[in-house]
Amino acid sequence: MNIQTKPNDLAAFWMPFSANRQFKKAPRLFVEAKGVHYITDDGRRVLDGTSGLWCVNAGHCRPKIVEAIRKQAETLDFAGTFQMGHTRAFELANRLTAIAPKGFEHVFFTNSGSESVETALKMAIAYHRAKGNAAKVRLIGRERGYHGVNFGGTSVGGIGGNRKMFGTLVGGVDHLRHTHDLSRNAYARGEPEHGAELADELERIVALHDASTIAAVIVEPVACSTGVLIPPKGYLKRLEAICRKHDILLIADEVITAFGRLGTPFAADYFDISPDLITTAKAITNGTIPMGAVFVKSHIHDAFMNGPEWMIDFFHGYTYSGHPMACAASIGTLDTFADEGLLTRAAELAPYWEERMHALKGLPHVIDIRNIGLIGAVEFEPDPAQPGKRAFDRFVQAFEQGLLVRQTGDIIALSPPLIITKDEIDQLFDIFAKVLKTAN
Ligand SMILES: Cc1ncc(COP(=O)(O)O)c(C=O)c1O
Repeated sequence: MNIQTKPNDLAAFWMPFSANRQFKKAPRLFVEAKGVHYITDDGRRVLDGTSGLWCVNAGHCRPKIVEAIRKQAETLDFAGTFQMGHTRAFELANRLTAIAPKGFEHVFFTNSGSESVETALKMAIAYHRAKGNAAKVRLIGRERGYHGVNFGGTSVGGIGGNRKMFGTLVGGVDHLRHTHDLSRNAYARGEPEHGAELADELERIVALHDASTIAAVIVEPVACSTGVLIPPKGYLKRLEAICRKHDILLIADEVITAFGRLGTPFAADYFDISPDLITTAKAITNGTIPMGAVFVKSHIHDAFMNGPEWMIDFFHGYTYSGHPMACAASIGTLDTFADEGLLTRAAELAPYWEERMHALKGLPHVIDIRNIGLIGAVEFEPDPAQPGKRAFDRFVQAFEQGLLVRQTGDIIALSPPLIITKDEIDQLFDIFAKVLKTAN
């Protein structure tokens, strides 16, 4: 087979969330991947410090997943799940609920994190209506939150740059304050000490709008895309308690944290919270085939089961909800996770990871280092004339030195595959430290 490794023209593909002009002047292109490494089009090995885009938790090109996808393509390429079905989707739903936190007995399939978020937001509003509380329609997000790019997710999201181009967005949305507080929590290891009281912001919002108008609060347990904001000790439990008090659903957006990233299967396990809905995607198929899933507690699901039996109970879904190829990929992924203990492996690596992360303290321009599970972030003092440039330059230089990291604003995030060894963690930090020492 003649695999073309160099594209003829880079202009046609308008790349998402990218600096297209910079990229096309000096492209960063991968042609292969295996384990924790990518191979570039010029034959260099690049250590994947970001699990692709926070999704390749079991490492690249894993045999059981590849085989499951291949077999499925030969056997049943497509069957819809509107008013019909196929066995793989039911098998997968049972496998997923078996590893979910207590009380999650149903899953609703989507194709991405953004779609999982839209689904959960609509489900929350429709749930209250089904229970006779049709006025409970407001959605509460949090500053600096990231919930994908569709209109609902953009509206509850709290990253200014992602919102400002898109008009007034969805109405009836308010935001909690974010929890990032370098003055009190810089260089915290794991959950920061200060800031649980920020959850009380929800009481302020309830007082303003009245609980009878609020459907749900959505937060990422760890806000990763904005640069890894780890919840202060006790914050999530306090938020959960206020939601309970006011009959507001709590949606945990675990698109990144589900499937072992913190050393527990879900972040809800890690923080000992019990949300009503959990949104997932990414590592559900180890990044191989697009898929998402909303985990749903029985009281929500059952509220929709009251109409005539022949009638559709939830007017929502996607042509590719529970696509057979994605289901097969996910089953292969769950098998790989189980075989290798990957849903809890981050807990074993976390102390070593933490030491290596915090050893970067003191390198030029570093103003904070934070970590939890197998996630870490380094924040740089912004250059006031060029916000974001400092971290962007370090991202490009790391790539040139053989390490893939993720830049957001003046922060670099790290989240390698959960199969990484301690030696490979050393390699990662050796490259990264060299870049931080030499970068401008
Ligand atoms: C918490 C969270 N929600 C939603 C999304 C959107 O997922 P997708 O890009 O698959 O639509 C992401 C993506 O990073 C995410 O981190």
